[in-house]
Amino acid sequence: MRIPVNRESKAPLFRQIELYLRQGIIAGSLAPSTRLPATRQLAAELGINRITVENAYAALEADGLVLTRVGSGTYVAGQEPDAPCPLEGGSPSWPLWQEGAQARMAAAQNGGPAGMLRAAGHPHPICFSAGISDSRLFPADDFRRALQAVMRRDGISALDYGECAGYAPLRSTIAHVLASQGLRTRAESILVTAGSQQAISLVSQLLLRPGDTILVESPTHAGALDLFRALGFQIVGIPVDEQGMETGRLEKLLQRRHPRLIYTIPNFHNPTGACLGGSRRRDLLALADRYNTPILEDDFVGDLRYDGRAQPALKALDPGGRVIHVGTFSKMLMPGLRIGFIVADGPVYDSLVGFKRVNDLATSTLIQRGLEAYVTVGRYQAHLRRCCRIFRQRRDAMAEAIDAHLPASVRVSPPHGGLFMWLRLPEGLSSVELLPLACAEGVDFAPGRAFFPDGAAGGDCMRLNFVLQSPEDIAEGIRRLGAAIGRLR
Ligand SMILES: Cc1ncc(COP(=O)(O)O)c(C=O)c1O
Repeated sequence: MRIPVNRESKAPLFRQIELYLRQGIIAGSLAPSTRLPATRQLAAELGINRITVENAYAALEADGLVLTRVGSGTYVAGQEPDAPCPLEGGSPSWPLWQEGAQARMAAAQNGGPAGMLRAAGHPHPICFSAGISDSRLFPADDFRRALQAVMRRDGISALDYGECAGYAPLRSTIAHVLASQGLRTRAESILVTAGSQQAISLVSQLLLRPGDTILVESPTHAGALDLFRALGFQIVGIPVDEQGMETGRLEKLLQRRHPRLIYTIPNFHNPTGACLGGSRRRDLLALADRYNTPILEDDFVGDLRYDGRAQPALKALDPGGRVIHVGTFSKMLMPGLRIGFIVADGPVYDSLVGFKRVNDLATSTLIQRGLEAYVTVGRYQAHLRRCCRIFRQRRDAMAEAIDAHLPASVRVSPPHGGLFMWLRLPEGLSSVELLPLACAEGVDFAPGRAFFPDGAAGGDCMRLNFVLQSPEDIAEGIRRLGAAIGRLR
């Protein structure tokens, strides 16, 4: 155990060892039942007298933090200790620079309902707030078999760093999947990333500096807003209606605010579920081209369509190099894979690969190989079809339950795909005030404010995830939400 002891310090050595171990035990990094090194061994490692180590252990034992078992050794005690954890020199005092880091992230994180529902202690909580699909549908067994097959097939090479741009066969597979959706591209234009969050991060950091302006839909993906705030960008919002971004307002914003990047979610938008209309897609591309502004297209659930006509991806309409497209396997498959991708053409592609390299060298090659093995055998398409069938029923179940249990003045337009429904509460009601009442009833949702760049608009809005629960739980959850709205009124 490498305990840092300072022989110049006024604090006795036994006290330094005791404090180090005490902090580890209380913070949980030394788990209950962990065996501490034998006193003789630790004394030899630290080059100190064995009595010094024995004194440190004795002080910890006196406070019930460790137990000595005769003939066996000294172990971290299993119980939560009562004793406080003093830092050397008295009360905790972190270096000043830590405050700057804390303030920067505090400004970036707008929080959420996570934890509130659990804390309310309902025996059967129903979650509508999360941004993921139903983990009960994850193809875990198929993926385990794919991983095992890869380990047998590729051996050690499956555990290498791998190519920075991504495992070449997976990039070809992604190109085929995209082609089947009408976006023709090549493996050489694809960069595999750790989820699409990293893709958004790489693109925006490469194209913008702190203080630069980014144009986003208002509302938009809260995780992107958090990222852009953490990176110190000026965020300008453009309103969204049932047809997606209101491109009629775009030109003025481009002229006045000179954004360095337009971030958009054209399909089954997070949080509103809207799809950008065909003519608006063309307007967006034409304006972005006229004002020399790149577009970052986030297609996080483009495959999850339940009805209606598909629109071409912005990237598919791009004559070349104007749109950077990002996608992910998180929502269609499993978020824990952490596999997303960028499709980019022109010199920016190489810059992105270089930037990826300096950020994290490469995305896990083992997971990429497992994903490639899983997707190429066609199970992916079958899984997608199954998800779409189930999610369509759940969307319809939520729309029906809303009709049955929520006031008629709640406004909602069921989307043609994706994960979310966006609701507007009756005049004068606040979703922030509603949330604790809803949690007490045993249901939650994502309050609207988190999705707006100014953090103030959207107080009467909320986002409901309709793919996460069974139709029965959806009906019950919406009934509870209706009860909470009744109480709020
Ligand atoms: C619109 C959108 N884009 C990107 C992401 C990031 O997902 P991931 O990094 O898991 O691919 C999310 C996650 O919720 C999202 O909603």
